[in-house]
Amino acid sequence: MPRPIQATIHTDALRHNLSRLREAAPDARVWAVVKANAYGHGVERAYEGLRGADGFALLDLQEAQRVRDLGWRGPILLLEGVFEVRDLELCSRLGLWHTVHCEEQIDMLAVHKTHVPHRVFLKMNSGMNRLGFKPQALRTAWARLNALPQVDEISLMTHFSDADTDKGIAAQVQAFDEATRDLPGERSLCNSAAALRFGQDPAVRGDWVRPGIAVYGSSPDFPAHDIAHWGLRPTQTLAARIIGVQQLQAGDCVGYGSTFTADAPMRIGIVACGYADGYPRLCPTGTPALVDGTRTRTLGRVSMDMLAVDLTDLPASGFGSEVTLWGRASNGAVLPIDEVARAAGTVGYELMCAVAPRVPVVVEP
Ligand SMILES: Cc1ncc(COP(=O)(O)O)c(C=O)c1O
Repeated sequence: MPRPIQATIHTDALRHNLSRLREAAPDARVWAVVKANAYGHGVERAYEGLRGADGFALLDLQEAQRVRDLGWRGPILLLEGVFEVRDLELCSRLGLWHTVHCEEQIDMLAVHKTHVPHRVFLKMNSGMNRLGFKPQALRTAWARLNALPQVDEISLMTHFSDADTDKGIAAQVQAFDEATRDLPGERSLCNSAAALRFGQDPAVRGDWVRPGIAVYGSSPDFPAHDIAHWGLRPTQTLAARIIGVQQLQAGDCVGYGSTFTADAPMRIGIVACGYADGYPRLCPTGTPALVDGTRTRTLGRVSMDMLAVDLTDLPASGFGSEVTLWGRASNGAVLPIDEVARAAGTVGYELMCAVAPRVPVVVEP
């Protein structure tokens, strides 16, 4: 009998979230961002739910190969472009579009021998100072690319640092607009937060949006807005079962370090999920969890293979009960991954990417 823990990928929710992003950024084409193994979901597992996208955006050539192996004939974009010149051979072979964010990548293209000119996305650094050409260097980069026989169409892109915060995107949009105004080509600016918050504005949504986290049912601007606000659904559930029950008296402690002490008689459940499964050890007492679809809280420190939940007000629950650590319970109740991430001082991105390989995964249609 395997440990009673399981992750579930909800294909219907992936489809639903994708359609929400289409509504949020009408007329834009949608890249489903599937880097980091589809944000921990598994490229192959997420594919069925995401094949309605207009393209897949990712980082690794191996992931691009896997998407092609699934039968995808449409666009695939390498969000960081190539890392060495021979990567361009695979781009030619797999028909990949790639980002060009630095002079070195143009140098590589210039020496690449191909009969198939490449579609590239020239990236501007509009203020995030991660990847991309500064506004004053963009035009020269564009002219260099335009002169290369290896290059077919040149599109323009940038990435926002603060689409999810009060600072917003106005300064970066302005910088991008000013630098690209008279350059031809399609535009791509928006991640999830920008697509949801500003996608109704045609000048911002451009021709392609690049949502990742919202596709996977996490709110990009939580706690300002939760997934219910954005009409998104969880696409990944982490659930386990109760494998033991303890009765506590006032003064009894729970778990390593005795960080929780009962101040009255209590009943607690021990759950077959710990930090070696990808549940954050940093989640303190009080982190929400669903037992048989009803909200309760964790107690004490998370250990490697187990954690404790409060069953005091759940007399019908006990050994074998379902515990939803995040996602959707069997009765339909939802615990957004964002709430658990926040309790751990992090974001939904990190939790969904970190579900451990030892956790069995099932894909629900
Ligand atoms: C260039 C680029 N575009 C789009 C995304 C998707 O962002 P999000 O998951 O916040 O929607 C990312 C993710 O970091 C990215 O690096």
